[in-house]
Amino acid sequence: MNLVTQISELRTLLNSHRRAGHRVALVPTMGNLHSGHIHLINEAHRHGDVVVCSIFVNPMQFGKNEDLDAYPRTLEQDQQKLAAAQCTILFAPPVAEIYPLGLAQQTVVSVPKVSERYCGASRPGHFDGVATVVSKLFNLVQPDTALFGLKDYQQFRVITQMVSDLCFPVQLVGIETQRESSGLALSSRNGYLTADEKQRAAALYQTLQESSHRLQSGASIDSVEAMARAQLEQAGFRPDYFSVCDASTLEPAQAHDQDLVILAAAWMGKTRLIDNLRVALSSH
Ligand code: PAJ
Repeated sequence: MNLVTQISELRTLLNSHRRAGHRVALVPTMGNLHSGHIHLINEAHRHGDVVVCSIFVNPMQFGKNEDLDAYPRTLEQDQQKLAAAQCTILFAPPVAEIYPLGLAQQTVVSVPKVSERYCGASRPGHFDGVATVVSKLFNLVQPDTALFGLKDYQQFRVITQMVSDLCFPVQLVGIETQRESSGLALSSRNGYLTADEKQRAAALYQTLQESSHRLQSGASIDSVEAMARAQLEQAGFRPDYFSVCDASTLEPAQAHDQDLVILAAAWMGKTRLIDNLRVALSSH
């Protein structure tokens, strides 16, 4: 595996792969890799002869009071995991390589509508930061395919819209959420949880599943959301949002909508966790 930190080196390396007719698959990450990330790398091998993983803790997508400084940086272990997963190129640039003029002078990519609610409302500027860095990564790597986890469902919708609006010549692939046996979605932020918090955090996925069953048995959206919030509070969570939405537009679901996703974010102590569940309702 090649470890590359400079853009010029990345371009030279990728040019030679492209001249050889190799297809390129990209997996963007912020590092501190867990088996959810590695699953993306494994899947990427099905789409590319060359698999590029980027590790970049993107300052632009963190709010002022968020965990940018505390975010775990574990490059050496990540490198070993990626080498074991036969990743071809690890691109791990320093901040100055991606934002040479600083964030204040960076052109911003902003995706309307799908960015606005949920994490977009709770974390102002977050999706501008994601869309901007992912645009840059797409222009740097020029992948044929890019893979993202559906755990960050709204992020995947934002990137899908961006690719469509800006005509990026890349195929996007969304990968199912990898979970602990308790159901807790794997996340770099799980490392912030105490053992007790981690046990209680399994309630997030359980609540999503129970809510899905309630919707399928005909319960109203309002009642399902209210019950879920109460259930999360009982488990020790402080819910941020728990919303039943149209799976494509992410607008709040209407009674007749059938292709739904439940999006959830909740605080367990000092840790903010997100998860979601697709729900297909059949017409009666
Ligand atoms: P990060 O949180 O490191 O996640 C990198 C990729 O791994 C994302 O596509 C995310 O959805 C996926 N992922 C995380 N946990 C997963 C799980 N349990 N199962 C499957 N996939 C999972 O998301 C980001 O980084 C950043 O916002 C990024 C897109 C890299 C832009 O900075």
